[in-house]
Amino acid sequence: MTDASATNANATNANLPVAGMTDDDLLAIARGAGTPAFVFDAAVFRARLRAVRGILGPDIELAYSIKANPFLIGAAEAEGLRLEVCSPGELAACEAWRVPAGRVIYSGVCKREADVREALAYGAGVFTAESPRQLELVARAAAAAGMTVPVLLRLSAGSQFGMSREDLLAIVDRRAALAGVRLVGIHYFVGTQRAKLKHQRRELEKLVALLDELEAEHGWRPERLEYGPGLAVPLFADEDFSDTLAPARELAPALWEVAGRVDLTVEMGRFLATECGVYLASVVDDKTDRGTRYVLVDGGINHLVYYGQTMAMKVPLVTNLTAAVRGADSAAPAATETPASTGAPAEMTALTVTETPEVELCGSLCTTADVLVRSLPLTDPQVGDVLAFRNAGAYSVTEGIGLFLSRDLPAIVIRRGPGDWEVVRRSRPTWPINVPEAFASPPRPPVPAGFLHPRGHPRPIPSKM
Ligand SMILES: Cc1ncc(COP(=O)(O)O)c(C=O)c1O
Repeated sequence: MTDASATNANATNANLPVAGMTDDDLLAIARGAGTPAFVFDAAVFRARLRAVRGILGPDIELAYSIKANPFLIGAAEAEGLRLEVCSPGELAACEAWRVPAGRVIYSGVCKREADVREALAYGAGVFTAESPRQLELVARAAAAAGMTVPVLLRLSAGSQFGMSREDLLAIVDRRAALAGVRLVGIHYFVGTQRAKLKHQRRELEKLVALLDELEAEHGWRPERLEYGPGLAVPLFADEDFSDTLAPARELAPALWEVAGRVDLTVEMGRFLATECGVYLASVVDDKTDRGTRYVLVDGGINHLVYYGQTMAMKVPLVTNLTAAVRGADSAAPAATETPASTGAPAEMTALTVTETPEVELCGSLCTTADVLVRSLPLTDPQVGDVLAFRNAGAYSVTEGIGLFLSRDLPAIVIRRGPGDWEVVRRSRPTWPINVPEAFASPPRPPVPAGFLHPRGHPRPIPSKM
């Protein structure tokens, strides 16, 4: 067993294991599942949920925004969280996981009537309304189904999401006339990866003032506040990883105060899911041009997205798993400085020095944008080595430009503990999505060795292109 000693040298947490996994664990997964692959450690995720719940205490509900990583729905559900759902597809994912409908918060912009009807049929616990028009739509669909559903009015924070304060107040004033919906509270979310907690504290004060105003001046006492603080997690090597739960702990007193006034649900994605995920990719090429050493991997920005990464200048935590194991298993690391290259005397040939060159780490897309890290100190990179990118548990898995270049989607592995892991989605080809459907079916057969492409197109071209 080795630790993450081959993690890029400037990482402040170079000695931490990758999520809950050792290098050996991850290499075994890479061998079994292939690369590129995401590994999500459900045990790490569930431990994080329990830790956050422990910090927030029993009077605050926790909701998981499944957009952060739908592969973790089952684990979040098993921990008793509510699930924030923002699209018909996300609702279908919850149905597939057999999530109890009452736990679903049916949220999101651009709801259409058919979407709402589906959520009503499923029995979603609460709906959010992003605009007066969206409220009417929910009301109409519910009334038509003979239902009255609880609704949270989403207050805008100055973007396309939510409704203006004026619209919200106007709805509250005519609530008695609304059929099909019962207003139960307010929904508020500004943005993600928000490190300065003074912003969250200030907006919580404003929200409490709004609750007071609604009661005093509009005769409506909201029962519920659903609030997304957008808490931040460290992602890059120069950040502090010593206590990644600190933001929750520091914001908790302000949240408790609010929970004393109204039923509070805190909804989060990134803060809960980031740490449990690792992206695995293998080195495919290694070359030097004009003094830059380019290391290319079989994944790329089509799969891996670090929020706040700009022009690949920031350095995420990357471990060369193979080099770590090579270094631990072998008395003589593979990359050595020999007397021939160093000019050292012959008797020093036994002295070996593991290389940690600065490399430009690139992916496998045809765009110069596909640089994962512009300058990364990477231990002894060799073709075939498996690299682990930490903190890839949130958003990456669905946010990347996965269809570009018709590269395959990565495999998805859920790990439950040492040696206990499962490929829950195999690597998927994307080319069938990037051709007319008539070409994509039946699937392309594997090409036998020595096969030469016949002239012309193997399948008839559909008449209407
Ligand atoms: C309404 C809403 N709530 C919660 C979240 C989750 O945010 P985060 O992942 O920063 O916790 C989002 C993310 O976009 C969102 O739009």
